[in-house]
Amino acid sequence: MTLVDRALAELRAAVTPRQPVEPVKGMTPEAAYGTVLPDGVGLYVHVPFCETLCRFCPYNKVRLEAGLADRYLHALRREVALLAPLLQKARPGSLYFGGGTPTLLPDLVEEIIGRAQDFGLHGEAAIEVHPCHAMQHRRCLRAFGRLA
Ligand SMILES: C[S@@+](CC[C@H](N)C(=O)[O-])C[C@H]1O[C@@H](n2cnc3c(N)ncnc32)[C@H](O)[C@@H]1O
Ligand code: SF4
Repeated sequence: MTLVDRALAELRAAVTPRQPVEPVKGMTPEAAYGTVLPDGVGLYVHVPFCETLCRFCPYNKVRLEAGLADRYLHALRREVALLAPLLQKARPGSLYFGGGTPTLLPDLVEEIIGRAQDFGLHGEAAIEVHPCHAMQHRRCLRAFGRLA
């Protein structure tokens, strides 16, 4: 391992979150996230998948593999279900998709935009895009175009 590789590995270890804590069975969203969310809370959805991994990139990402995205979407749905009672009270003021390359998963993007609208999304919505994924961008951008 070269010095650069070692420095990159250390950087990744420093910025990559540890394994997420599994919600305790029966835990309420209030206990998991605090009693209330502030009105206009900002939503950030991380989509940690890329077709290829760039060596310079320190962000939390893995190569997209069959089945992995489905498992991620399943976990995300559970997270949204857990948060739903709080989000219904605190209408989201912004929605941001970061990555990774969120436009690789247009189904996920469309679904989450729909859920955020159910919760009364108002304000800004944004997504990180990769210049090499024009088709997926088109679908994602159309979903953004449907926002009021
Ligand atoms: C995390 S990427 C997400 C979007 C998409 N995957 C892409 O590569 O364009 C967002 C931006 O971060 C930049 N980036 C990645 N690693 C970086 C680094 N070490 N320093 C500065 N910018 C970086 C990328 O070039 C890209 O423009
Ligand atoms: S997030 Fe973007 S910059 Fe980072 S590995 Fe993926 S494609 Fe490369």
